[in-house]
Amino acid sequence: MAILVTGGAGYIGSHTVVELQNAGYDVVVLDNLSNASEKSLERVEKITGKKVTFYKADILDREASEEIFSKEQITAVIHFAGLKAVGESVQKPWEYYNNNIAGTLTLLDVMRKHNVKNIIFSSSSTVYGTPEQIPVTEETPKGECTNPYGWTKSMLEQILMDVQKADSEWNVILLRYFNPIGAHKSGTIGENPNGIPNNLMPYITQVAVGRLKELGVFGNDYPTPDGTCIRDYIHVLDLADGHVKALKKIEENAGLCIYNLGTGNGYSVLEVIKNFEEATGIKIPYSIKPRREGDIPANYANAEKAYNEIGWKARYGIREMCEDSWRWQSQNPNGYED
Ligand code: NAD
Ligand code: WQD
Repeated sequence: MAILVTGGAGYIGSHTVVELQNAGYDVVVLDNLSNASEKSLERVEKITGKKVTFYKADILDREASEEIFSKEQITAVIHFAGLKAVGESVQKPWEYYNNNIAGTLTLLDVMRKHNVKNIIFSSSSTVYGTPEQIPVTEETPKGECTNPYGWTKSMLEQILMDVQKADSEWNVILLRYFNPIGAHKSGTIGENPNGIPNNLMPYITQVAVGRLKELGVFGNDYPTPDGTCIRDYIHVLDLADGHVKALKKIEENAGLCIYNLGTGNGYSVLEVIKNFEEATGIKIPYSIKPRREGDIPANYANAEKAYNEIGWKARYGIREMCEDSWRWQSQNPNGYED
């Protein structure tokens, strides 16, 4: 009996593998390493002292998935595999729709063939588009996404809901993550973006470690208290814990469930910089740049449903997220590359 974690060598996946192993699950990872290093899994094994069964494979490759499902006793799938760079998705929409949507359809087909009908899917707060009111609950209507990446999440949610509706043997849990940051307390696994980071925290840590000169703050004329955008940053260890709790729910025949995974607290870009500086003692030089296209002024979660139904609540605050992001970056200035 094992849990298949697609995309398990990646940022959130590797942290979730740790939590799963710590909770006593056997884990099989499928990852094509398009945005990850196998070293993350070696380090996971060091942290937990347990073996990870790894298949370098693509979710688009039906035969490879078939082989995994034939060989391993998979009972549920946690599906992280996907491309996730917002800007790149605007340039390469076909690649994003193909990888994320065709890949997931192939995976679902192999799953049903092998009678594995339990899936936890990595969705995103991006499916709310520009929400009419915040904090957003799971009842907040989904909105217009501003990029193909976001649409893949929104469409895949719909696909998974329809699959579950047509066949009640399926248990589908959609987890809508807010802004994941932070790293494992050991500082040995963490976020390792290719090239110049698009997201705020890896940009800050790369400035702190001297790889980048200064941070650009995208806009300070938003209708927020300090003019910069507000987001709900969530520690990756809390996210990982959310998946273990969701798995327990799956084991109770969940049917279809949707949960926001956020802290419920919003921080502006300037507040994140200030917290990082206070947590680390390192000054982050920054300058104000024009707004970034597609950014919304503020977004944060109401995560009470996850607490009420699966007993999940974020444990870590922004200060610890900054400390842990920095521990990872400072111990691994070049990520998984030596
Ligand atoms: P990541 O890029 O670190 O992890 C994704 C993993 O999937 C990578 O290891 C990559 O190699 C693998 N992968 C991609 N396409 C694949 C394919 N066709 N076959 C097999 N493996 C493939 O990203 P992450 O931040 O860990 O995100 C994990 C999931 O969570 C993604 O689905 C992402 O869209 C979603 N998500 C991420 C965030 C975020 O801000 N990090 C927020 C909301 C949702
Ligand atoms: C946060 C804030 C930026 C970089 C993205 C995806 C979303 C989800 C999470 C996957 C914003 C500002 C950023 C920089 C800055 N991912 N910023 N300078 O855009 O809220 O969400 O990741 O599902 O779909 O869109 O996160 O970290 O990019 O930005 O000022 O160099 O930091 O403008 O206000 P975002 P982010």
